[in-house]
Amino acid sequence: QVNGIDFAVADLALAEAGRHQIRLAELEMPGLMALREEFGESKPLRGARIAGSLHMTVQTAVLIETLVDLGAQVRWVSCNIFSTQDEAAAAVVVGREGTVHEPKGTSVFAWKGETLAEYWWCADQLFTFPDGQPPNMVVDDGGDATLLVHKGVEFETAGKVPAATEEDGEEYGILLATIAASMERDPKRFTRVAEQMRGVTEETTVGVKRMYKLAADGELLFPAINVNDSVTKSKFDNKYGIRHSLADGLNRATDVMLGGKLAVVCGYGDVGKGAADSLRGQGARVVVTEIDPICALQAAMEGLEVVHLDDVVHKADIFITTTGNFNIIMAEHMGRMKHNAIVGNVGHFDNEIDMAGLARVPGIRKIEIKPQVHEWVFPDGHAIIVLSEGRLMNLGNATGHPSFVMSNSFSNQVIAQIELFTKPGDYQREVYRLPKHLDEKVARLHLDALGVRLTELSKEQAEYIGVDVAGPYKPDHYRY
Ligand code: NAI
Repeated sequence: QVNGIDFAVADLALAEAGRHQIRLAELEMPGLMALREEFGESKPLRGARIAGSLHMTVQTAVLIETLVDLGAQVRWVSCNIFSTQDEAAAAVVVGREGTVHEPKGTSVFAWKGETLAEYWWCADQLFTFPDGQPPNMVVDDGGDATLLVHKGVEFETAGKVPAATEEDGEEYGILLATIAASMERDPKRFTRVAEQMRGVTEETTVGVKRMYKLAADGELLFPAINVNDSVTKSKFDNKYGIRHSLADGLNRATDVMLGGKLAVVCGYGDVGKGAADSLRGQGARVVVTEIDPICALQAAMEGLEVVHLDDVVHKADIFITTTGNFNIIMAEHMGRMKHNAIVGNVGHFDNEIDMAGLARVPGIRKIEIKPQVHEWVFPDGHAIIVLSEGRLMNLGNATGHPSFVMSNSFSNQVIAQIELFTKPGDYQREVYRLPKHLDEKVARLHLDALGVRLTELSKEQAEYIGVDVAGPYKPDHYRY
C-alpha cells in the first residue's frame, strides 16, 4: 500500500510508458470518451464499488478510468495469468495525476505471468475495498469473479469448504484454498458481498454461458447483464478483434510466414470467423472444424473446407482453437502433427488444448524459446510449438484486440454498469441483454471516427418499414 492505495503490479516505474499508450488509445476509443463527456458531470456511478476481472490491458485502463470519471470506486484484476500489460497496470495505479512515489490512481492486482495461486490471490483482493466495504458491482470476463462469490457463498452457507479431490484439478483446489483462507479471516465475507451486489456485467461467451446455467439452476445470486451478446460486442470484438490480434500473436510469437501455410481453425462461431479471416488475410490456406451444421455451412459458403481434425492433423502447419469447448486438440493429436506445427488457442479457457495430457507424454521435453512460446519435443525427435501454454494466445503473445474495437465492447460494459447500478429495482436474479437502442447508440458513437455518413430515414420510409425514425431499426430477432 502506498498513499492509501493497495496494489500488486510488476513495476510502478513502467507507469509513464503505460500512460503514453493510454493517451494514444483514448483517441481510438471514441465510445468511451463520449460516455465520459455525457456522464462525467452527473456521475451516475457515484457510490458504485466495482470489482473488475478483465484482461489488464491498455484498453482496459481506458475503461477503468472511464468508470472512475463516472463516479465509481474501482479495484481490478486480470482474468488471465498472461494477459496483463504491465505498463498499463502501473499507469492505472499511478493515475493521471499521481507519481510513482505518490500514486493517486486505482487499485490493480495483476502482472504478466502470474501463477495460478497468485491469480486467485489477486481475485480475492477484489472483494474488500480499503474502507472494509465489499464491492456492489462486478465487471467480469469469463466469470471467475462471479464464480468466486458463488462458491464463497455456497461454502460459507455450508460452514465448511470441501476437501479437494484429484479429479477437481489443480486450479479448483486453489480456488477452494482461497475460499477456506477467506472464511478463516471472516466466515461470512462472500455472503455479505452477495447481499450488497447490484449485479455483474459479463464480457465473454464462456462467462455468459456460466451465468445462464446459474440462472437456469435458480442459483444466480444477483442480476447479470450479458454484454457479449450485444451486437456491437460479439459481432465486432469476437470477430474483427480476433481478425487483428490472432495474426499479431502468431507473428510476435513465431514470426513464421503465414502465407501458403495450411491452418486449421477449430470452431466457426464469431471468434472462428475472425480467426479464419485473419489467417486468410495473410494468405494461409484455411480449413475449419465444426459441430454445428449452420456454422459448417457458413464456412463452406465462404469457400473454406470443413474437415475433421483427423483428416489434416498430420499435414497442417497451424492449429487454432476457438470453440469455448474442451478437449479439442488432444495430446494424441499433437503426437501426430508435423515437425514444428504451431498450436494456439483463442477460446477463453486453456482446456481446449490438452496441455495436461501433453505434459504426461512419456519422454516429452519442454523447451522455452521465450516466455509464452514453448517447443515440446516428442521422444521420436519431432516437435510442436505451443503458444501461451494453451491459454488465450492473442493476449498472451500479443496485446489483445485493438482499441477501436474494444471501445465498442467497453461502451457496452459502461452502459450496462450504469443500468444495473442505477436501476436495481428493474433487474431480478436473471441474465439480461441491453436493449437494442443502446446497442445502436454504441455503434453510433463510433461512426464519426471512421467518417461514416449515415443515411437518415424519412418519416414516410420509417412508417413504411415499421420503425421509428430514431430507431431501433431492427427487431430483436434480427441476426446481422
Ligand atoms: P461461438 O459459440 O460463437 O463459437 C464457438 C463455435 O465452436 C460454435 O460455432 C460451436 O458450434 C463450435 N464448436 C463447439 N464445440 C466444437 C468442437 N468440438 N469442434 C469444433 N467446433 C466446435 O463462441 P465465440 O463467441 O466464437 O467464442 C468462442 C470462445 O472464444 C469463447 O471461449 C469466448 O469466451 C472466447 N473469446 C475469446 C476472445 C479473445 O480475445 N481471445 C474474444 C471473444 C471471445
